[in-house]
Amino acid sequence: MQSCRLWGVGPEIPTSWVLQKLLRTMYILYTLMLGVSAFTIQPEERTAAAGNCRFLGRHFKIDFMVEGEPVVLRCPLAWHRSLDSARPHVNMTWYKNGSARMLPGEGETRMWVQDSALWILPALQGDSGTYICTVRNASYCEEMSTELRVFEKTEAALTYISYPQILTLSTSGSLVCPELSEFVHDKTDMKVQWYKDSVLLDQGNEKFLSVRGTPRLLVQNISVEDAGYYSCVMTLTHNGTRFNVTRNVELRVKKKREETVPVIISPLQTILASLGSRLVIPCKVFLGAGTQWTTELWWMANDTAIDSAYLGGRVTEGQRQEYSENNENYIEVPLIFDTVIREDLNTDFKCVARNALSFQTLHTTVKEATTFSWEIALAPLSLVVLVLGGIWTHSRCKHRTGKAYGLTALKTGHQDFQSYASKIKEIK
Ligand SMILES: *[C@@H]1O[C@H](CO)[C@@H](O)[C@H](O)[C@H]1NC(C)=O
Ligand SMILES: *[C@@H]1O[C@H](CO)[C@@H](O)[C@H](O)[C@H]1NC(C)=O
Ligand SMILES: *[C@@H]1O[C@H](CO)[C@@H](O)[C@H](O)[C@H]1NC(C)=O
Ligand SMILES: *[C@@H]1O[C@H](CO)[C@@H](O)[C@H](O)[C@H]1NC(C)=O
Ligand SMILES: *[C@@H]1O[C@H](CO)[C@@H](O)[C@H](O)[C@H]1NC(C)=O
Ligand SMILES: *[C@@H]1O[C@H](CO)[C@@H](O)[C@H](O)[C@H]1NC(C)=O
Repeated sequence: MQSCRLWGVGPEIPTSWVLQKLLRTMYILYTLMLGVSAFTIQPEERTAAAGNCRFLGRHFKIDFMVEGEPVVLRCPLAWHRSLDSARPHVNMTWYKNGSARMLPGEGETRMWVQDSALWILPALQGDSGTYICTVRNASYCEEMSTELRVFEKTEAALTYISYPQILTLSTSGSLVCPELSEFVHDKTDMKVQWYKDSVLLDQGNEKFLSVRGTPRLLVQNISVEDAGYYSCVMTLTHNGTRFNVTRNVELRVKKKREETVPVIISPLQTILASLGSRLVIPCKVFLGAGTQWTTELWWMANDTAIDSAYLGGRVTEGQRQEYSENNENYIEVPLIFDTVIREDLNTDFKCVARNALSFQTLHTTVKEATTFSWEIALAPLSLVVLVLGGIWTHSRCKHRTGKAYGLTALKTGHQDFQSYASKIKEIK
């Protein structure tokens, strides 16, 4: 109580009030200081992580790697490699998505940045994730992300981390051990070992040859059994420690593409149809052992493509069908008339087949069925008439001699015609 008086504060003002005031002032000061420190520390981190930086998207490629091996993530912004030399004033940094911490972190010995690439050696499964690389100078900032997935080295992981490669049956070809360029500085001493189902290849056999100084494995006379998973291993020494760089390749063996001359085997040269009816004319092409997908097949009307000739769609091309009968290949494309009209009788329809070896066409015309049927009915009959007539005149001529031959022949011919004409009537 005494001290209060000494302070010169009246008894109306209690000590607790002074203390409260003091604490409040201190608190305000403290928060102010915190705020200031936050503003001075944070901007750098925030802009570095996300703010004010143009995000140019994810890189299309995902790196699938094996645990315990070296990984090199190249900044997708520096894909053209010109970045380092052409823009020396830019600063490149790496972050893992979700963390503002720059990579490599302090005391991190497994990671380092070299020529715009982030090295991780050895990679762990926990390193999987999205990595963002930021390129900035005083006035601009751009960033892009790239994806890394690190797998355990197991057979099951093989399917995820394999690069598919295709070779042709019964030929020779080579597999390439992919994504090694980051580790190869002197190609002459590059040595890649190839395995299939854990068996080392190229042990003095003629089938497989690992070409020294290249990432290639030469495969002779490729058979269906050669398909499957291969792994290739390159050894890398870093700070006296040897590391394997393993890549997996899935070999798919495809059949040789065989090309044959297409033969249009249908339609006939004339097609009968009734006006007003629906009509389908299939164009059928025989290819033998030839591959179907290399042959084009289409219809034309008066040398014009069907969709252009019939904008209304009265006449259309149907779906292409590819099929095999007795190991021989065929293609078929139908021409479909919703209704046949008189114009179709004067139009030249053409089926066209084309591949690398040949160009074939077949013309067809539509004839009206009703008027034509008489001719069809009479055609064999008139043939019989002609043949019989021929035989008859021939036998009569044999018995004849003399100068009147031509005239009588004509006469008899006329008579014959009349008699046959009456016969035709009887048949009718
Ligand atoms: C790049 O940025 C880092 C981190 O801010 C800094 O330590 C480094 O000196 C910068 N390099 C250049 C060339 O500006
Ligand atoms: C980073 O992670 C966040 C949250 O998981 C996600 O929304 C974002 O799309 C990621 N960014 C990239 C570039 O993958
Ligand atoms: C930053 O980089 C951009 C694009 O390369 C360039 O146009 C600009 O002049 C650079 N600014 C500085 C300050 O170097
Ligand atoms: C290629 O392999 C097949 C069987 O896979 C065999 O019949 C053929 O003789 C081989 N050809 C050559 C040139 O080795
Ligand atoms: C590298 O691969 C070889 C052959 O597959 C193996 O014998 C060796 O142990 C591997 N070394 C390391 C460090 O994994
Ligand atoms: C095709 O040409 C003929 C005469 O040249 C014509 O009568 C017919 O209408 C034409 N057809 C088409 C579909 O243009």
